[in-house]
Amino acid sequence: MPDTITIIDDRTGKQVTVPITDGVFPASAVRELDPSLFIYDPAYMQTAACKSAVTYLDGEAGILRYRGYPIEQLAEQSTYLEVAYLLLNGELPTPAQLETWTKDVTHHTFIHENMRKRFVDGFHYDAHPMGMLVSAIAALGTFYDDAKEIKDKDSRDKQILRLIAKMPTLAAMSFRFSVGLPFVYPDNNLSFPANFINMMWRIGDDYEIDPRLERAMDVLFILHADHEQNCGTTAMRVVGSAESDPYTCAAAAASALYGPLHGGANEAVVRMLTEIGSVDNVPAFISSVKGGQGGRLMGFGHRVYKNYDPRATIIKKTAYDVFEVTGKNPLLDIALKLEEAALNDPYFVDRKLYPNVDFYSGLIYQAMGFPVDMFTVLFAIPRTAGWLAHWQELLGDKDQKISRPRQWYAGPDERDYVKIGDR
Ligand code: CMC
Repeated sequence: MPDTITIIDDRTGKQVTVPITDGVFPASAVRELDPSLFIYDPAYMQTAACKSAVTYLDGEAGILRYRGYPIEQLAEQSTYLEVAYLLLNGELPTPAQLETWTKDVTHHTFIHENMRKRFVDGFHYDAHPMGMLVSAIAALGTFYDDAKEIKDKDSRDKQILRLIAKMPTLAAMSFRFSVGLPFVYPDNNLSFPANFINMMWRIGDDYEIDPRLERAMDVLFILHADHEQNCGTTAMRVVGSAESDPYTCAAAAASALYGPLHGGANEAVVRMLTEIGSVDNVPAFISSVKGGQGGRLMGFGHRVYKNYDPRATIIKKTAYDVFEVTGKNPLLDIALKLEEAALNDPYFVDRKLYPNVDFYSGLIYQAMGFPVDMFTVLFAIPRTAGWLAHWQELLGDKDQKISRPRQWYAGPDERDYVKIGDR
């Protein structure tokens, strides 16, 4: 069987044959056929907008790998900082590289005092922490003159370091402000996840972090670090293609993540489980979802995974590790019952709807004490590594230009202006 595809324009009989490589053929074939012909592909369902070596995802088989390494091995044996290095550099660090990277990130965790005192203080007292974070990421760029020097590798590396290191600080700052607690400065003696937990929860001097929770936080960071061309990463790439600075790009990516169909889904899962209220109400809820009155079963289904999301399997296990420390989240039983009911219901089975990463992550966050408003913020912290890995890749990709899709115009034909009095 030849590895080519032939497209024939039946209007003219003209045909173009192009190679298929790794299941992909160039859209330039269509251009060659007729430059005024476009492919209608809302939501890019069938479009590969870039070539990427960062993350491999096979949704049918339920496989996720960062730079070739299975997510299961990374979640079991690695740390978030090591994974961030891997995503950004393509290879796991040597011990010396990891030491330098960890030291560099650790020494960039502080934010300018004006960020907190002047910028954050302007928010309303009950501002949503994710709304604050999105704005704070963009504002952070204004503190660095060199942020716009995206063609300079040293400058790029510096901004990457700053963004990875300061995200937990901005996240914890947004939370503490939204609940009226004083800011806790970063503690550079702590690990990346422990420092974040400390900035979130420390009140007095005798605050101690349970190592099991520190590890669980790190595992959650690893699992959320990248997920190839999702909505947020695509936003990062689209804005990045205009050569905007990485802070502005990351703010755009975080804005996309904020949406309930993307990173906001774990918040929606907890709200949904709370509304269901009891295991006995699960069958009625499932029926209402199927009948279209109950909205969607949040935390289920995925554009790419048509199988169990591998991250959901790891998260389910992590949930039990966390509940050992915190006690079981009372919503767990409802979630388990819901999962069992959906996995045995033809409506969900036929549509290949399985639990995704968000189905259990919210339960863990809630058990750890995070309010639901913080869930998407927790997603954004590690996803910054993925966004930046894609941003770097984009800038080095000679095939890329400023993003500019075409449209299928569906409006009126030309018509003459009618004066206001004649309408
Ligand atoms: N509950 C009930 N029905 C669903 C669900 C769901 N969660 N998801 C999809 N469907 C149905 C949908 O109604 C449609 O049915 P029909 O063919 O009869 O019209 C069919 O399944 C296909 O759905 P779709 O909307 O065409 O699928 P999509 O690929 O556009 O949507 C999704 C993917 C994730 C937006 C969707 O599954 C969903 O809304 N899930 C709930 C929200 C959620 O958990 N999001 C987190 C995604 S994972 C985190 C991340 O990577 O960002």
